[in-house]
Amino acid sequence: MHIRKANRSDAALLSRFAESTFRESFAAANTPQNMDLHCRDSYCEELQAGEITSPNMVTLLAEHGQELVGFAQMHWSEAPSFIHGTSPGEIQRLYVASNWHGKGVAQALMAACLDEMNARRTDIVWLGVWERNPRAIAFYRKFGFIECGEHVFHVGHDPQRDIVMTRSMSASG
Ligand SMILES: CC(C)(COP(=O)(O)OP(=O)(O)OC[C@H]1O[C@@H](n2cnc3c(N)ncnc32)[C@H](O)[C@@H]1OP(=O)(O)O)[C@@H](O)C(=O)NCCC(=O)NCCS
Repeated sequence: MHIRKANRSDAALLSRFAESTFRESFAAANTPQNMDLHCRDSYCEELQAGEITSPNMVTLLAEHGQELVGFAQMHWSEAPSFIHGTSPGEIQRLYVASNWHGKGVAQALMAACLDEMNARRTDIVWLGVWERNPRAIAFYRKFGFIECGEHVFHVGHDPQRDIVMTRSMSASG
């Protein structure tokens, strides 16, 4: 398994993979209508091409041979007002195909994200995670993230409560 930065030519594959991992993660807990609305607004080749090439974002792909098995996207922009840092960075998405859960892919992606955060001189990393996603919350805690607030994340017409977690880049681990 190796990790590399995505480029424009990965956009079509990434959009399909991102939609399929979102659906396999959350379809059971959401209505089909809300899932479809969210996917329609979040995933298509043009959108992912824009994200991959944005100067404010970095997209990392985890591959096993030629197979895409996970990805992470970071975003440097305004953070929620309760996050105190001079240079905050967000882990906006971190998804691993379900047959690769528990095998270290997510850990490798997170380590690569933190390297990238360091390279961009980020002082505090933040992310939002659905309150009904205990596995992801446990995963982030293992990396030193702590809960510090909440925000609303819309899945279709459903306003969901996301827990906001942060980690100082001076933390170890
Ligand atoms: C979140 C994700 C990236 C974590 O990767 P992973 O390979 O599953 O991570 P781990 O196996 O280390 O699991 C994390 C921890 O969750 C805990 N855990 C595992 N299964 C769990 C479950 N069903 N419920 C609650 N906690 C669980 C364990 O404590 C585990 O750590 P440990 O085994 O070292 O004690 C991965 O599960 C994933 O892609 N999920 C779907 C997409 C998603 O939710 N992304 C995050 C959006 S914010």
